[in-house]
Amino acid sequence: MASFISFLLLAALIGMASWQAIAAEPSPLQDFCVADLNSAVRVNGFACKNPTNVSADDFFKAAMLDKPRDTVVNKVGSNITLINVMEIPGLNTLGISIVRVDYAPLGLNPPHTHPRATEIFTVLEGTLYVGFVTSNPDNKLFSKVLNKGDVFVFPKGLIHFQFNLDPHKPAVATSAISSQNPGIITIANAVFRSNPPISDDILAKAFQRNLMASSSFSFLLVAALLGLASWKAIASDPSPLQDFCVADLNSPVRVNGFVCKNPMNASADDFFKAAMLDKPRDTNNKVGSNVTLVNVLQLPGLNTLGISIARLDFAPLGLNPPHTHPRATEIFTVLEGTLYVGFVTSNPDNRLLSKVLNKGDVFVFPEGLIHFQFNPNPHRPAVAIAALSSQNPGVITIANAVFGSNPPISDDILMKAFQVDKKIIDLLQAQF
Ligand SMILES: *[C@@H]1O[C@H](CO)[C@@H](O)[C@H](O)[C@H]1NC(C)=O
Ligand SMILES: *[C@@H]1O[C@H](CO)[C@@H](O)[C@H](O)[C@H]1NC(C)=O
Ligand SMILES: *[C@@H]1O[C@H](CO)[C@@H](O)[C@H](O)[C@H]1NC(C)=O
Ligand SMILES: *[C@@H]1O[C@H](CO)[C@@H](O)[C@H](O)[C@H]1NC(C)=O
Repeated sequence: MASFISFLLLAALIGMASWQAIAAEPSPLQDFCVADLNSAVRVNGFACKNPTNVSADDFFKAAMLDKPRDTVVNKVGSNITLINVMEIPGLNTLGISIVRVDYAPLGLNPPHTHPRATEIFTVLEGTLYVGFVTSNPDNKLFSKVLNKGDVFVFPKGLIHFQFNLDPHKPAVATSAISSQNPGIITIANAVFRSNPPISDDILAKAFQRNLMASSSFSFLLVAALLGLASWKAIASDPSPLQDFCVADLNSPVRVNGFVCKNPMNASADDFFKAAMLDKPRDTNNKVGSNVTLVNVLQLPGLNTLGISIARLDFAPLGLNPPHTHPRATEIFTVLEGTLYVGFVTSNPDNRLLSKVLNKGDVFVFPEGLIHFQFNPNPHRPAVAIAALSSQNPGVITIANAVFGSNPPISDDILMKAFQVDKKIIDLLQAQF
């Protein structure tokens, strides 16, 4: 009997371990759960159709992914055909979708993120220059020229782009994306064209420019923010498989997160940090804010536990500029002062949901969406505490990642993405 139970436990552990390694979306709990797109019941994803009514057509779409799409009608010269759960209801709960991308000669799929998915990208025709930028503080650009048949990966939540280098020939690619509804946040649209717009004060401070009145920026400001309306999942870090797994930060072994210290050596200090989160931080910097993050690197006991915490200090008129956490939802509490906060939903709506928060108020920023906090008071500082649903949420400050990556993203790409001339791009790049 004992050995049978051991066998079951082992099987369960192996099963959990392999689940842990793959998609971040909730695992299916049955063979399929075809989305009932007409149901009035709102759940994470969609309610299931009665399985007896399901047919092969629920898993099928005559998507014509072999056919070129029109890349002339738009400014950037690319066209995305996304087949997600809205197109194929059978994808519901299965954590995957697919896309075809068409590029005109010199066409660009502008810098964007998928708040809920990793993307694996295959070139079908032509040559594409592609890249992604890591989170703060490095903002390192990983880029490469891909030829027909080549495959590249864009990690979950990171800003990335593709550009057709050929001035004469179109290009085509296809991607599999690890979510039934990955979401697309086009940075230029989400930041400069949200509906309603993010205020000029915030953008001027975030991008360190007094350019907001210039016509090209006014144009940009007409448009869009990032999407949360269809946000559905909960914490995305893998579940723990034991009571704790204190990070051995000195181990040379590299795994997802960190290897565990010998549990016999773990002590209360591994779960403790004298972080002085009661103490004000220095906000004397360009944006007038200071974030003190306590993640797994500061507190090794957080390894595998899917949570971290931050203190945020705001000078009078201080801003925590538009940024995303590629791996976490954030729950935010105001301790002192007043803060104007907001987040932007993904394409196509780019709806800005914003609110003025007072002391004691709580607000949520959904995983992967662009958000900000601004202290509107010209005389008093403000303080907040945020909990984040990852041991290592990552921070991508949009301005730094886009205009301050190392090496820089090329002018051609930024000019096309933001629809401004080289002079403005150079001015912006000079700030970061
Ligand atoms: C689904 O099947 C049930 C019985 O199996 C039937 O009563 C119902 O009308 C069907 N619904 C649809 C939308 O076909
Ligand atoms: C993409 O292509 C389709 C079909 O060719 C066209 O109807 C649509 O307007 C295009 N979308 C964009 C954004 O260019
Ligand atoms: C951890 O504990 C083992 C025995 O329990 C001991 O041999 C080892 O030196 C300890 N390592 C550290 C880093 O304390
Ligand atoms: C944040 O505050 C700490 C302590 O006051 C200071 O050492 C650090 O330089 C500040 N960081 C920024 C970005 O201003």
